Order: sequence, then C-alpha cells, then structure tokens
Amino acid sequence: MADVTRFTALARLLHWLMAAMVFVMLFVGVLMASTAGPGYAGLVALHRPLGMAVLVLAIGRLINRLATPTPPLPRDLPAVQKLAAHGSHVALYALMFAMPLVGWGMLSAGGYPVIMWPGFALPALLPRDVALFALLRQTHTVLGFGFFALVLAHLAAALVHGLIRRDGVFQAMGWR
Ligand code: HEM
Ligand code: HEM
Repeated sequence: MADVTRFTALARLLHWLMAAMVFVMLFVGVLMASTAGPGYAGLVALHRPLGMAVLVLAIGRLINRLATPTPPLPRDLPAVQKLAAHGSHVALYALMFAMPLVGWGMLSAGGYPVIMWPGFALPALLPRDVALFALLRQTHTVLGFGFFALVLAHLAAALVHGLIRRDGVFQAMGWR
C-alpha cells in the first residue's frame, strides 16, 4: 500500500485548533502569574476551562493518532533528526496531558475550587496538602517554560521543512 502523504483531516483540524489553544494558554498563564491587578480574575476564569478543554481534546487526538495512518518522515532525513522529531512529538503530547492535570491537581492540593464556569466546579483531583500544592505549583511553572521552548523548537523545525528543505513535512499538516 502507498504511504499516506497527509495527516487525516481530523488530525490536522485538531493540530491547528490545539496549537492556537496552547499558545493562548501559555501567554495567559504568564500574564496571569505576573498580574495582581483587576484583570487577574478574568484571566484565571479563562485559563482553567481552556486548559481542561486541551486535556479533553488531547485524549481524542491521541486516540485518533493511534487509530489512523500517518505520513512517514522523508527517507533521506538523517536518523538523528527523525529521532528528534518523534521524541519532540511524544513530549508535546505528554505536555498537553501533563499541564492540565498538574493545574487541576495543584488547585485541588491547595484547597481551591477548580471552577469551570459559574455554578460548575470539577471535583478535587488530589487531597488537600500544602507541601504538594507548592511542589505542583513549581512543576506547573517548570513544565510551562519547557512547553514554551519545545513549541518554539517545533515551530523552527516546521519552518525549516516548509521553507528550506521543502520536503512535504509541512504540507502533511496543511490544507493545500
Ligand atoms: C495546556 C494547559 C496549560 C498550560 C499550557 C498552562 C500554562 C501556564 C503557565 C505558562 C503559567 C504561568 C506559570 C508561572 O509563571 O509560574 C500557568 C499558571 C497557572 N495555571 Fe496553568 N496551564 C495549563 C492548564 C491549567 C489548568 C487546567 C489549570 C487549572 C484548572 C491551571 C491553573 C493555573 C494556575 C492557578 C496558575 C497560577 C496563577 C498564579 O500565579 O496566580 N493551568 N499556567
Ligand atoms: C502550541 C503549538 C503546537 C503544538 C502543541 C503542536 C503539536 C504537534 C504534534 C504533537 C505533532 C505530531 C503530530 C502527530 O504525530 O500526531 C505536530 C506535527 C506537526 N506540526 Fe505542530 N504543534 C504546534 C504548533 C505548530 C506550528 C505553529 C506549526 C507550523 C508553523 C506546526 C507544524 C507542524 C507540522 C508541519 C507537523 C507535521 C510533522 C510531521 O510530518 O511529522 N505545529 N505538532
């Protein structure tokens, strides 16, 4: 059977939708953590449900990824770059799960309600524990900055494939 040349339409739709959501989450997160002003409440009220939506979509995306064929990387791509591509994609998936789970867990451990919208809060994921809250709060920051770095590297790699190598990797995630 011939290799597929593109990700499925659903995979591409989820990729771009979630790329936008993750970008917003990273910037809202940093803005929120550095704001003590009146905008804080609104930023947190957006950050919590949008982050949980990333988790829900990541579950669907992973199932779709495992159930459908994906385009292979170019045959002439050096083995070390193939390894870097696969490793970074696994890490991006892991972060799309870890960030929301750590966010949910840290608010639970801190004894804060995990409010999605007025009148609806998620149940606590973890028991109340101040030391655990401190650890998870720090973990959320460290993973968040790792996520930033990985997204930038991913963007740079996508542009190298699209503009310099022109090897079809960029088009595999595109619409034309
Ligand atoms: C894709 C998912 C997520 C991403 C990319 C993300 C990203 C971030 C980033 C970059 C920060 C700033 C960290 C710092 O400067 O210390 C942050 C802070 C925070 N995040 Fe998230 N987050 C995600 C999901 C969640 C979820 C689901 C929740 C809660 C349900 C949550 C709750 C928080 C809280 C409470 C803060 C700290 C705000 C403060 O300092 O007052 N996050 N997040
Ligand atoms: C927050 C942002 C992003 C996240 C979390 C993300 C995540 C991912 C993941 C997990 C994959 C692997 C797909 C799979 O195997 O299921 C992937 C592939 C890809 N991404 Fe992104 N992405 C982001 C932003 C971008 C941006 C801005 C671009 C382009 C400028 C881009 C271009 C691509 C391309 C071309 C592929 C296909 C690589 C291949 O053929 O193996 N991504 N992305």
